[in-house]
Order: sequence, then structure tokens, then C-alpha cells
Amino acid sequence: MEEKKTLYSGMQATGALTLGNYLGALKNWVRLNEEYDCFFGVMDLHSLTVRQNPAEFRQNARKLYALYVAAGLDPEKNCVYFQSHVSAHAELAWILNCFTYVGELGRMTQYKDKSLKHADNVNAGLFTYPVLMAADILLYQAAVVPVGIDQKQHLEITRDIAERFNKIYGDVFTIPDAYFGKHSAKIMSLADPTKKMSKSDENTNSHILLTDDKDTIIRKFKRAVTDSDTVVRYGEDKPGISNLMDIYGSVTGKTHEQIEEEFSGRGYGDFKLAVGEAVADELAPLQADYERLLKDKAYIDECIKKNDDRARYVSNKTLRKVKKKIGLTEV
Ligand code: TRP
Repeated sequence: MEEKKTLYSGMQATGALTLGNYLGALKNWVRLNEEYDCFFGVMDLHSLTVRQNPAEFRQNARKLYALYVAAGLDPEKNCVYFQSHVSAHAELAWILNCFTYVGELGRMTQYKDKSLKHADNVNAGLFTYPVLMAADILLYQAAVVPVGIDQKQHLEITRDIAERFNKIYGDVFTIPDAYFGKHSAKIMSLADPTKKMSKSDENTNSHILLTDDKDTIIRKFKRAVTDSDTVVRYGEDKPGISNLMDIYGSVTGKTHEQIEEEFSGRGYGDFKLAVGEAVADELAPLQADYERLLKDKAYIDECIKKNDDRARYVSNKTLRKVKKKIGLTEV
């Protein structure tokens, strides 16, 4: 049997997830998990660049883990684990820091954006965030990294760091490719379709949380901002309707043309209701599983332990090799 390539991805462990996170990331991960040997991390070390309330943070990280599993990342088939439980991440990040230039980190747009947004806490972690991300990916020799388009630059710097290292020490790291899924539409805010859907938006009608109940979902879609004509058609001049079509298409698998046909001659009201119902139906089994998993602490603990061990084993192989190559002593 041909060996599967490795896939790596993860999300930060902060707060609830939105429909955007699900359709843009999680759902695609689930689609890919037969084809690749997959590692999915709860990226709790990355979350430390922002000050966290310890009790909430601990809970949110476990909730994210449960959500991964509920969404279909089977912890028996994929390695679903906690980044902070595997010390190789922090160790390799340090080493890679010494192979990364201040100049290239300073060009990262996410760093620039976040240091403006959190001007009172521009910590060194925010600056070296992409190096930790490179360590995550390179430790597992990942070939494929499904990420949102906002992480493209971080993938590029990961490749640059890996190539730089390999050039000096030989083929130590697999050079990863970013994977932007064909299906993974970027989901926009329901209140302002020119902005990305975000859970930090104060207007709660702007985003669907994965934990929203059916009535809430339908109500939020009813209120979604559209435009003044009444035709369900995809186009740059119709960002609101186009966003709803992307959502409906991601959930049902229908193309834009099929959706236009389905709703031709019918108004926005019908369409919005159909989108709301389709989303609620898609999320219902996930929500039921999630509720069940949150109550089953023993099962989740067991999954975490087992998967942490596998992640430690795989990542330590790479770390040992790196240490040897650069001349750190062994006994
Ligand atoms: N920075 C990523 C995000 O915010 C999360 C992340 C951390 C990640 N390490 C990773 C994604 C490694 C892919 C691979 O979305």
C-alpha cells in the first residue's frame, strides 16, 4: 500500500466557532481525512499571544477538542491532540527562531494588523507566532496544510524557513504546500457582507455560532443584509446574496447555477428560509454529538491522552534529527 502523505492543521483555542470556521476549515478537514495521514492540533500555545482568563481558556480548549470530534475528526483515525501537551513544538520553535529573520517577521500582515489592534500588548510571541506555526507543521513532516487565505503568508514563511534549514543540513523537513479547498468559500458577515464572518463582531446577528439553535439560525438568516432587487443571482454587485449562496452551496453541494434555478421567480424570503433550514439541519447532528461529548469527560480524556502520545512520538523523531544535525549534544 502506498503511504499516505501527511496533513497538518489546527485552530486557536479561543471561544466559540462560527459557521465560517466550520465551512471554511473543519468541514474540509473532514473531507480530506481519508486521503491523508492527518494531525489536527488545538493550538493553545498560539492563543497565549492574547491574555486569557485561565478558567475560560481551559474550558474553551476542551470545547474545541470536543467540537473537532463532533464535526467528524475521528480521534481513532486522526491524531487530534493539544499543541501544549507536546513539548517538541516549543523546542523546535526556539531552534527555528534562530533561522528566521526579524525583517521577514516584520513583514507579516497579521503581525502588523494585530499589533495595531492590541497596541497595549505587542508581545514577542505575537512577533514570533509564525515561527511556532512553522514548528507545528514541520515537526510532522506535513506535505499539505489546509488553511484559510489569511494564513497564506504564514505558510510561505514556513516554506522559506524549511528550505533555508534544508539547504544547510540536508533534507530534514518536508516542504509543505498550503491547501485552499475548492469548496471552502470564505464566509462573510451576515450584517456586512464585505467583512469576514467573525465571532468577535459585537452584532450577534452578523455570525452564526456552531452552537446556535435552529430558531436562532433561521432568525439570523432572515435578518441577513441583502440588496434591493429580488433576484437570487451570484455576482460582485450582490455581496449579501452571493454570501448566502456560498453558504447554501457549501452545505447542500449545489452549484451557483443550480441555486439560481431553484430560486428563480421566488423572493429573498423563501431563499433565506431555505438557507437557514439547510444550515440548521447540517449542524443538528454535530450539535447533538457535541453535547454528548462534553458530558463524557472520561472518553475525551482518553482520546486526548492517546493522541498526545502519538503526536509526541512522531514529532520527537523530527526533533531528534534536527538536534543531531545542528550539533546539540546527546548522551
Ligand atoms: N494560525 C492559524 C490560524 O489562526 C492556526 C495555526 C497554528 C495553524 N498552527 C498551525 C494552522 C499550523 C495550520 C497549521 O488559523
